[in-house]
Amino acid sequence: MEAVLVQNVSKSFWAKGQSRQILANVSFQVKKGEIVSILGESGCGKSTLLNIMSGFDKPDRGTVLVDGAVVKRPGRSCVMLFQHYGLLPWRSVLKNVELGLEELPIPPKERKERASEYLKLVGLKDKAELFPHQLSGGMQQRVAIARALALQPELILMDEPFAALDTFNRYHLQNELLRIQSREKTTIILVTHDIDEAVYLSDRVLIMSANPGQFHKEIGIRTSRPRDRGHDDFQHYRKLILDEFSLRSPAPAVEFSI
Ligand SMILES: Nc1ncnc2c1ncn2[C@@H]1O[C@H](COP(=O)(O)OP(=O)(O)O)[C@@H](O)[C@H]1O
Ligand SMILES: [Mg+2]
Repeated sequence: MEAVLVQNVSKSFWAKGQSRQILANVSFQVKKGEIVSILGESGCGKSTLLNIMSGFDKPDRGTVLVDGAVVKRPGRSCVMLFQHYGLLPWRSVLKNVELGLEELPIPPKERKERASEYLKLVGLKDKAELFPHQLSGGMQQRVAIARALALQPELILMDEPFAALDTFNRYHLQNELLRIQSREKTTIILVTHDIDEAVYLSDRVLIMSANPGQFHKEIGIRTSRPRDRGHDDFQHYRKLILDEFSLRSPAPAVEFSI
């Protein structure tokens, strides 16, 4: 069974007295344990699509199924992860990870143990008693990842999760995510405008065009993992994607001779 099935989702918003179609008949499916990136320019409707998939917003038409059930409202099987970590500043790191678990019928001792286990998984066991402002941006996002994972969701939806981090932190966290995903086998759908990130992380990249938002191409990334950003295969996929956005410099009209 597909982990996620999006069928003919359309969505319009009212702005300045008129309706604008943001998503038009978007359909795709994701298998259990797959990592799929949705890549598109700013404003093309990526966040709108994720919000609908997570149940925070409703489509005008179409349906989203997660594990065979129609998504009607936010639920526990699906967790969202955002660019701005969404940690509560007055709670310790451990208490932030425990947050989502507090609604579940889990005794406090077990809750704490589970939160500690996931903090350990993201390499922050020794930071449990600190507060978010005492951590770097990369560490804060790891806390958010631990909090999402502690819920043991079927699906994690990520909205440009590493966009606020510098290149080195971003690469580091991308590796962490892959390491953890290979252990937990969580299905991940990641929205990004970073071509390298999409190629590095994904089994498949869905390319979205704007006005209205629609997928116009799917590219399967068929290189083995761990991927090498400097390898020819990696460059091959980068070029394929750059071509989709017409971002490669055109061939010179005149041949140069020396
Ligand atoms: N609640 C809303 N009301 C009106 N317009 C919206 C709303 N949410 C998003 N939009 C518009 O929809 C378009 C797509 O937004 P969004 O999904 O956030 O794009 P992306 O995440 O790809 O950058 C943008 O033009 C944005 O201004
Ligand atoms: Mg967005």
